[in-house]
Amino acid sequence: MTTHAAPRATAPQALTRCRASVEPALRAAVESLHPQPRRMASFSLGWCDADGTPSAGPGGKGVRQALAVLATEAAGAPAEPGVAAAVAVELIHTFSLVHDDIMDGDERRRHRDTVWKAFGTGPAVLTGDALFALGVQTLARAGGPHGAAAVGRLAEALGDLVHGQADDLLFESRPWTGPGAVGIAEYRAMADRKTGALLGCAMALGPLLAGAAPPVVGALSEAGRRLGLAFQAVDDLLGIWGDPGTTGKPVHSDLRRRKRTLPVLAATALDSTAAERLAGLLGSPEPLSTAAAAAASAIVEAAGGREFTMEEARRQVAGAYDCLESVRLAEGAREELVELCGYVLERRV
Ligand code: IPE
Ligand code: IPE
Ligand code: MG
Ligand code: MG
Repeated sequence: MTTHAAPRATAPQALTRCRASVEPALRAAVESLHPQPRRMASFSLGWCDADGTPSAGPGGKGVRQALAVLATEAAGAPAEPGVAAAVAVELIHTFSLVHDDIMDGDERRRHRDTVWKAFGTGPAVLTGDALFALGVQTLARAGGPHGAAAVGRLAEALGDLVHGQADDLLFESRPWTGPGAVGIAEYRAMADRKTGALLGCAMALGPLLAGAAPPVVGALSEAGRRLGLAFQAVDDLLGIWGDPGTTGKPVHSDLRRRKRTLPVLAATALDSTAAERLAGLLGSPEPLSTAAAAAASAIVEAAGGREFTMEEARRQVAGAYDCLESVRLAEGAREELVELCGYVLERRV
């Protein structure tokens, strides 16, 4: 059995196929919202411009919805629970991004203004709340004998996500060096919660709803968590070395916010001289100039933070592959999951 697909920078076909199978139900769910949050949610999803004119914007990559559909197929379950799970996680993901952009002060996402930037902070908070409620409602309505277990599983992931976001924000004001500095293990625990929890949940929900065997649900869930850690590591890399024209998000905003991303933490852990120089640049209360951000990214790279982070992503994806091999799964869907994991490593978006 082949374990590793060749990593690829282009989006796998499964993303398109799963998007097509989920979009009608996702649109129907969003259609049920109050017109104001509906417009803002549709804007965030790339379905309309800020004035409501229909558009074919890029929206998101759809990684979580694809994981939900593929994991359900991998567990040998029917399509319906996979679609319900996919709609729920994509709504929750969108909620988390709308609120995250307020917390992080980011003005661009998905090649357009963020919701708070386009519509104001109050309306953006409300849109996030509306998406949150709709995500939970979607799953609750999927019902069946395992509906309560699935809603409980989603609630657990939401608790983790909030915990991870709280740590992410608190890390911003921690010292850069010395005993109070954020360690790599602490970073991993934060990223596992803020990102791993929802990817794990995405892979668990459809199989759970369909009553799949607990070891299968457990293996898929753990694969998603590992993939989430890889996903966040790559997100951290793209935040420093990505092309905003491709990612649709600003570059260096994590550095400006003094975010404890993995490349920076790794650089400070690997090289004490780099740690002092980074503490000098990033520890100053002054806004970080473009030149200082570029200097910080060069220091991080020279100290090995970039390579360490890519290696961490590869290691986590290898762990996800192990999980996918640990139980009996439908082979075609397993292969598509492996391919999606490879894309998460190589993506530029
Ligand atoms: C961004 O997620 C938030 C993180 C967890 C890093 P994605 O990169 O999946 O966002 P979209 O949905 O494709 O825009
Ligand atoms: C990702 O947050 C996790 C959540 C939104 C819960 P980040 O702040 O790391 O991700 P981006 O870079 O803004 O997408
Ligand atoms: Mg952010
Ligand atoms: Mg954030």
